[in-house]
Amino acid sequence: MWRELGERLVALDGALGDDPILETGAEAHDAPLWPLRAARLRARSDRRALAMRALWLHDPVTPAEIRAVLGAAVADALLAADVLVEDERGVVATLSLAISSEGRALLAEALDRGGDAVMGVGALTSVVARAAMPEAVVDLALDLGAGAGAAALEIAPRARRVIATDVNPRAAILCRVNALLAGVTNVEARVGDLFEPVRDERFARVMFQPPFVPVPASGEVYAAGGERGDELALRAMRECLPVLAPSGRAVLALDLPIVEDEPVAEHLRRELGPEPGLLVIEGRDHAPEELALGIAAHADPHYGERYAQELLSRLSHFAQVGIRAFKTVILVVTRPTGGAAGATGTVAMSSHPGARILDRDASAWLAAIELAAAGPEALARARLKLREGLALARLPDGRALVHADGACPIALQGLGPQAVRLLDALRSARSVGELLKKERDGSGRATVTRGVVELLRAGVLEI
Ligand SMILES: C[S@@+](CC[C@H](N)C(=O)[O-])C[C@H]1O[C@@H](n2cnc3c(N)ncnc32)[C@H](O)[C@@H]1O
Repeated sequence: MWRELGERLVALDGALGDDPILETGAEAHDAPLWPLRAARLRARSDRRALAMRALWLHDPVTPAEIRAVLGAAVADALLAADVLVEDERGVVATLSLAISSEGRALLAEALDRGGDAVMGVGALTSVVARAAMPEAVVDLALDLGAGAGAAALEIAPRARRVIATDVNPRAAILCRVNALLAGVTNVEARVGDLFEPVRDERFARVMFQPPFVPVPASGEVYAAGGERGDELALRAMRECLPVLAPSGRAVLALDLPIVEDEPVAEHLRRELGPEPGLLVIEGRDHAPEELALGIAAHADPHYGERYAQELLSRLSHFAQVGIRAFKTVILVVTRPTGGAAGATGTVAMSSHPGARILDRDASAWLAAIELAAAGPEALARARLKLREGLALARLPDGRALVHADGACPIALQGLGPQAVRLLDALRSARSVGELLKKERDGSGRATVTRGVVELLRAGVLEI
């Protein structure tokens, strides 16, 4: 029946993910849009609009309408299983349809259920899946904290097997349901804390959008990240190494709390220990209010008493912990390569809406930071160039702006005159070693080396 439901959902007068209603206020938080979306869908009579009302917006339709949309057998099976319920207003779903950025329909739960509600798709779900999606098919991938399995299903075509784990047993059930809905057979759901259910496996890719909301005590399992919010993410970063295949990587995406003045990469490095490789891809900062507004709207989508309470109590906790802002980050962790100190780099992410961080970006940046950490001999042999997709906009005073074309995920950034001279020199040199030879003394060579390392760590140069 799940399979048949899946087939029916893709045959609804066009894909759900293509429905123009998804464009309505796409930038805003979902909850304020619900009455608007419901009103617009009620004005339509196509089957897709009916399915979206009953399964997505919990807006009742008639029993005859749901049978016409899903077929009588599927509709009756869903009614018998209490996935659909009928009362005097009509038929609605007890689960919630979530629509992934690929347009895939998943069954998950409304987050105002609180407690152990199973998350379907969030703003970072496809961010983490794309950044971890291997370019060629790999053997094993892990979707940690998979929720309803959206990221696992996205990466499934690029792995022989995907294991989707979650501490919430109900998430594993919904993940299995969603694999059936999608007709995907290589995703296996397991239950347990972090890496405990996969101790004996080795993964080419691990992806995790951890719960990252700071909470005073325990909270919703999909959201609560610890008192600061980053505790579970940090634990996953520390504990992932034993399950990574030799050239495997773990990719996390979250809104990291900014508490100290310390740069993010230094803080994470201290928490991670010296040896693993660490690439920090930094996105934009959000005010604490922005996260609090989102959480409160999830808790009470009707903006009632509970909304106000949640908003204020969340903000008061953020202030108590000393959170100044949240920074969206993608973190990539690799196994130690044998040296005493692992490579570290911080790349600023473009805010261009078309810019996506892909696995190949992470590969290029990891190679760059590994070279930066590999020592002077390896660096001297290297031939380097400005990263593809970047160009220099020169300013009259010798400085320049690095700017990226729309698809390139690096943010606009300023370069001092010394860095600009170095880039110009690298353009005509056969190797870094050739540039070093031109320097007369040790301090000149040290300046060149330092400059190259900085540009490699910032993702501006590639090999
Ligand atoms: C923010 S949701 C992400 C859901 C989904 N992967 C996505 O990207 O949309 C975090 C998920 O982590 C799970 N989780 C929380 N604590 C966990 C733990 N200790 N071990 C494994 N999973 C955990 C939650 O149940 C939830 O499904």
